[in-house]
Amino acid sequence: MMVDLRDHFQSADWKSEKHMPVIDAPSTVKKGEVFDLQVEVGREVSHPNKTEHHIRWIAVYFHPEGEKSLHEIGRAEFAAHGGSTQGPAARSVCTNPSVELSFRTDKPGMIFASSFCNIHGLWMTSKKVSVV
Ligand code: FE2
Repeated sequence: MMVDLRDHFQSADWKSEKHMPVIDAPSTVKKGEVFDLQVEVGREVSHPNKTEHHIRWIAVYFHPEGEKSLHEIGRAEFAAHGGSTQGPAARSVCTNPSVELSFRTDKPGMIFASSFCNIHGLWMTSKKVSVV
């Protein structure tokens, strides 16, 4: 039986689910004009950020309407989780799972963000962008 990676992408209401990436981006942008977006995990319900349990990365994609495949806009890897030779959570520095990116598009489309928790796997969300 074929096992499908898509079955492992989880989604839920970000207001009650600590793993959901939240996309902050304008709903409407100007054609060809650079705009900013932010993606953050654990906005309403904070996710643990320690050696044993943390968010490893966030990746952001854009699918322009009518195009066959999507574009990878960028990604961030979160590398500090408090680990040390003295054991887990022995150091106080932990990267916050949040990233800011910017891009431009001539076409409307859909922003997708995915994130990965070392315990709870893959999560995803999306946001539609119109172009004027
Ligand atoms: Fe988790």
